[in-house]
Amino acid sequence: MSAREVNELIRQAADKAARETDSEPEPGLTEEINWPIEVKLQRGLAGAISNTTQIGYVNGAKGWLIYRGYNCFDLAEKSSFEETCYLLLYGKLPNSSELNAFDEKLKKYRTVPQPVLDVLKMIPTKSSHPMSALATTISMLGNLDAQSEDTSVENETEISLKLISQMATLAGAIGRIREGKDQVSPNPELSHAGNFLYMLTGNVPDEMSERIMDVSLILHADHGMNASTFTTMVVNSSLSDMYSSVVGGISSLKGPLHGGANEQVVLSLQEIGSVDNVNTWYQKKRAAKEKVMGFGHRVYKAYDPRARIFGPIAKLLAEKNTENKIIYEIAAKLEEIVVSELGMERKIFPNVDFYSGIIYKAMGIDTNMFTPIFAVSRIAGWTARALEYLADNRLFRPRAVYTGPTKIDYKPIAER
Ligand code: CMC
Repeated sequence: MSAREVNELIRQAADKAARETDSEPEPGLTEEINWPIEVKLQRGLAGAISNTTQIGYVNGAKGWLIYRGYNCFDLAEKSSFEETCYLLLYGKLPNSSELNAFDEKLKKYRTVPQPVLDVLKMIPTKSSHPMSALATTISMLGNLDAQSEDTSVENETEISLKLISQMATLAGAIGRIREGKDQVSPNPELSHAGNFLYMLTGNVPDEMSERIMDVSLILHADHGMNASTFTTMVVNSSLSDMYSSVVGGISSLKGPLHGGANEQVVLSLQEIGSVDNVNTWYQKKRAAKEKVMGFGHRVYKAYDPRARIFGPIAKLLAEKNTENKIIYEIAAKLEEIVVSELGMERKIFPNVDFYSGIIYKAMGIDTNMFTPIFAVSRIAGWTARALEYLADNRLFRPRAVYTGPTKIDYKPIAER
């Protein structure tokens, strides 16, 4: 199997998406907002507007994911993670000399200072979550960088490049150390995705695995004002520093309602065990009003375009061995049942996490490394958006509607 086959699958997914959603009305993209606007108080800030951006756009009704004007199908098929990072950070696709210079810089930054690895070795791997280890090591990187307190856009941009590069090194090292193995030094001959897989597994990946990881990093790089992006931006808006802001993003991404869902998906599929059990398992969940991990989305009320790409790739990988095949078949059955019961009626479809975990599993990656892979990619969107906001910074400071009493007399402790 070749990288070309993966690209062909992405093209087919794009064509299918176009056939199914082209007739959806397009919400007014260019309508001017007349301030002040009337807002409804919605839990989880649903629908609230925090800022304007040119970085990325998610159209939930049409199932669009756009970075700087380019749709995710084109980027996944034709671009690389390095090129996508450049696009997100600088607002345009690089020419070849710009891309080479950018790539050289990312490569130069791949090696992390030894004290960071020393700290990593002190973290107990059995009780700690790899995302907590990632947050600790990024924080340590900040402590070691004498320039970290310079919050000029120029310096924060340079730090962002370091973080994009070193997030992969650290995630790779965390994966290795958790398995009781030594850290693998970066290989400058490999692409960002290829080197990441190399540092994680210790083996130079084959062409197809490298392409699939590249596609996954491209597709996870940015996604509107999701919780971890917002967290990163909120921390950065206080003129803290980029390392601390990204530690905030990692902490937010860790949760199962956000980045941790693909880990839960694979655990659910393993718990189901066989295609015959899918319906009974699902009906129990439904009766107990429990959510099925990997389905539903705050923004997408159509099929998540990333899941459109990952589904066929998961199927392609499933053909390689029996264990992958069983997990894939359980997933496909679960998708069929959930979509038939909740798709049209509740607009609940598979999200990016439904198939990404199955893909990583088929690539031999340990379940608890799935969320760190998300961070290796999303660091691009976190930093791009934090930098864009920093250029015209204003401290984030929303309001809460106070619903408690205001006139209670203070009683001394003896009278309570
Ligand atoms: N399975 C079954 N029912 C669901 C699901 C689901 N996965 N997701 C939402 N619903 C139902 C939910 O029970 C609720 O029903 P009711 O109105 O009867 O109480 C309704 O849909 C709205 O749910 P909500 O949780 O208020 O909706 P939200 O906009 O906050 O949901 C979500 C977004 C992603 C948190 C939610 O769909 C969910 O928890 N999904 C499972 C976790 C998951 O897969 N997360 C990954 C999200 S994609 C990656 C990312 O962007 O970070």
